[in-house]
Amino acid sequence: MAATTIRLSSYLCCLLLIVQVHSVNRDNFKTCDQSGFCKRHRSLQPGNSPYVVLMDSLKITPTQISVQLLNTKTNVRLILDLYGLQGNTARVKINELEPLKTRYEIPVGDVLVGEPKQQDIKVLDKASSSITLGLENSKIVLTYSPFRIDFISGEEPLVSINSQGLLKFEHFRKKPEAPPEEAAPADPPAEGEDKKDEEVKKEEEEKKPEDPEESGLWEETFKSFHDPKPNGPASVGIDISFPGFENVYGIPEHAESMALKTTKDTDPYRLFNLDVFEYELYNPMALYGSVPVMWAHNEKSTVGIYWNNAAETWIDISSTTADKNFFSKIADLVKGNTEMAQMDTHWFSESGVIDVFVMLGPRPKDVFKQYATLTGSTELPPLFAISYHQCRWNYNDQEDVKNVDANMDLFDIPFDVIWLDIEHTDGKRYFTWDAHKFPGSKDMLDAEGAKGRKMVTIVDPHLKRDDNYKVYADAKNRDLMVKGGNGGEYEGWCWPGSSSWPDFTNPEVRNWWASKFQYSEYDGSTPDLYIWNDMNEPSVFNGPEITFHKDVLHHGGFENRDVHNLYGFYVQKATAEGILMRSNNEQRPFVLTRAFFAGSQRFGAVWTGDNMGEWSHLKVSVPMLLTLNLAGITFSGADVGGFFKNPDNELQTRWYQAAAFQPFFRAHAHIDTKRREPYLLPEENRNIVRDAIRQRYTYLPFWYTLFYHGYRSGETVMSPLWVEFPEDKSTFKMDDEYLLGSSLLVKPITDQGATGTTVYFPGKNDVWYDIQTYQSYAGAQNTYINAPLGKIPVFQRGGSIVPRKMRVRRSSSLMSADPFTLVICLNKQGEAEGDLYADDYKSFAYRSGNYIHREFSLKNNILTSSNADPNGQGSTKEWLEKLVIVGFPKAASSVHITVDGNSQSLYHSYDSTSRVLTVRKPGVNIAKDFTITIQ
Ligand code: NOJ
Repeated sequence: MAATTIRLSSYLCCLLLIVQVHSVNRDNFKTCDQSGFCKRHRSLQPGNSPYVVLMDSLKITPTQISVQLLNTKTNVRLILDLYGLQGNTARVKINELEPLKTRYEIPVGDVLVGEPKQQDIKVLDKASSSITLGLENSKIVLTYSPFRIDFISGEEPLVSINSQGLLKFEHFRKKPEAPPEEAAPADPPAEGEDKKDEEVKKEEEEKKPEDPEESGLWEETFKSFHDPKPNGPASVGIDISFPGFENVYGIPEHAESMALKTTKDTDPYRLFNLDVFEYELYNPMALYGSVPVMWAHNEKSTVGIYWNNAAETWIDISSTTADKNFFSKIADLVKGNTEMAQMDTHWFSESGVIDVFVMLGPRPKDVFKQYATLTGSTELPPLFAISYHQCRWNYNDQEDVKNVDANMDLFDIPFDVIWLDIEHTDGKRYFTWDAHKFPGSKDMLDAEGAKGRKMVTIVDPHLKRDDNYKVYADAKNRDLMVKGGNGGEYEGWCWPGSSSWPDFTNPEVRNWWASKFQYSEYDGSTPDLYIWNDMNEPSVFNGPEITFHKDVLHHGGFENRDVHNLYGFYVQKATAEGILMRSNNEQRPFVLTRAFFAGSQRFGAVWTGDNMGEWSHLKVSVPMLLTLNLAGITFSGADVGGFFKNPDNELQTRWYQAAAFQPFFRAHAHIDTKRREPYLLPEENRNIVRDAIRQRYTYLPFWYTLFYHGYRSGETVMSPLWVEFPEDKSTFKMDDEYLLGSSLLVKPITDQGATGTTVYFPGKNDVWYDIQTYQSYAGAQNTYINAPLGKIPVFQRGGSIVPRKMRVRRSSSLMSADPFTLVICLNKQGEAEGDLYADDYKSFAYRSGNYIHREFSLKNNILTSSNADPNGQGSTKEWLEKLVIVGFPKAASSVHITVDGNSQSLYHSYDSTSRVLTVRKPGVNIAKDFTITIQ
């Protein structure tokens, strides 16, 4: 009877919570003041560092120095390891010298792709107060008392660690018999039986004002949730400054401008993967994913740090001036009297170790490469994945899917993938189908496959606790679930009701999960089916902050507190491995994830979660995607149209136009919204949206080549202007326009009613061409561009060659043998260059040389196509159909192509108004060397 009552009451409580989840407000999420360790670190005052370097303990190897740090207040010793790494990178690790138990470190091979390759660091100078080391072109100065580290390049200080003295390392300790402030409650509430909010409030009011140093050391209560903290305090933090810089970027995910703001008057930026309902814009609250990487950029340098820690992390940012006195002492630097700007940042995590990678650039593309060397680059996606995706919560049944597909064809709107959300399952049991709505999933998939299309189903990580559900029963029998603080299978609420979560941090669990995607295991799946991982922060409707309790236990005895930000990363990793395995590692996987961490770029795409069908959300999608790109997650997008609410026709139209020029392009909508497939729009909007989607398809060869470059080099796909124009200060905060590669400049319209916008054209010596009219615009100036509803302000850079395919078909795979058009925009010297990467668009054959990579260059009126990469030995049926040469001064008298020593003249025409020379039907196979001469 008692048990029934408890079950019933917890059911009601959860129902309430599910209802509540749809009216979440800030109160559901902690502020810094409600987090003990955040308060403790934030209350530190600069300039009081108790840490000194114990030089007697110094050990030097060619690539590493190790030395002890002593906390002169507590006498606790830490160990500092400083490594030189290949590619102008250093690593600073600080751990306890003799911890009571092992502190969590992310296993090498998971986020870091491998043990980073070391590089010699030479001792340049050993003085009584410091030691100076040389790393490539940089110097590292370790000052003993108080302890700090400075990174210097030439005469410029770039990064300082602990220059404010905020290092705080809470060593593991034994719990005092009776902690004075926080005697444990006689009967701490068990999980799920948390205290009532009013009770907690009353208790808190009764407490005397807290010493932040003592705040929440051994237990903590948030709302009605009790965190017993069995290991006590274990947080780590340190300050990292960027002298000479005024702007820092990165640390997604926040709904925030690209240039990060100072946090003097707000909470610090928080990194803690959370399912935040109806998230607010322009604030530092945590969202679904976390990438603890930050860049500082100025005219001369780009540098950055990666904070390799998976626990809840907060980052304070302030701007100040550099301590020129100090810098002139340690390295004879900083001439003149002018003040030097500095950005100070302060990082603190709830547990783990301090493990900071310092990437010293010096240019934007260098830091991206340095970071990709550590955490990997975005895998080359299959072509369908960068095409247009049609999603909604939910396509109701097979008939609905068929209708949507047919209507897209009827209205001539290309699409590659149709998605099924949670309602397609048998009662939210993933890997199953609702037998009434989807009785013949294979037929449905085959019908899509026949048009070259794919499907995606959602597979969330929560498993319905139903012994008749075979995935759950299997996981339970094998004991694969995360454990609650009491040691039993953790139970919480999500879409299916009472649920448990496999422990994806365990490699064996990931293998088990991956095996579930075998065709024999996932009934009704076919090779045309790909996967969407959602709710993987994880979202737990009745958990603290809608996620796991922090004392949930994972593999190796670590708490969720230690690994929280990695859970979703591992879900996507295991899923991608499953999709890979089911094809014997032959076909590229595609997995979309909501939660992510550093390195998630290797496993698929990320989207920005539950945005709203409002203009402000369209606007913020640009800085959010730029920041994700800067953090290596280049394959990212926002729900087109906005997830919640019903966007009007204008907003939908403008959203499609923007997203057609963003990396991941998917329309999605909440179950309660009105149907809004693009063919349902009124004719005018429908035509414009169709045109935007078709433009996406014509640019697929360009996108694919961009993703190839990103895969090879770690470069951004969607970039802030300063990546290509690093010296142009006016671009440092610009986040309403962006570049795709170095060739296309995009300024989406994100204001209601706007019929034009002011575009900044970068580059003193540059010229830019409107991609529709070919009108030219000089660089280094702002120009007002008319942009009535049908117009997307996109411009191609003079000097670039962009490959396109102009025959738009129903899906990208039906275009695979189609011919290319090269759009050649001339620079002021009448020259241009570009490239094209192509392969089979789906398999891993490119890894054994089955690809083509062509280099095009137009100089002295001769276009030359040559092999860009001798390793590319592939062949193709694709051929060259047309050249569009923009900015050409006059009509040509003759044009001829030379292939294998044979010349042939080509048909050409000239439009003197747009200054475009069109050359038709060169007809040459695109894999061949050729020249086209214009006279
Ligand atoms: C939350 C996701 O963010 C959303 O995209 C999805 O439609 C719902 N979960 C239902 O699965």
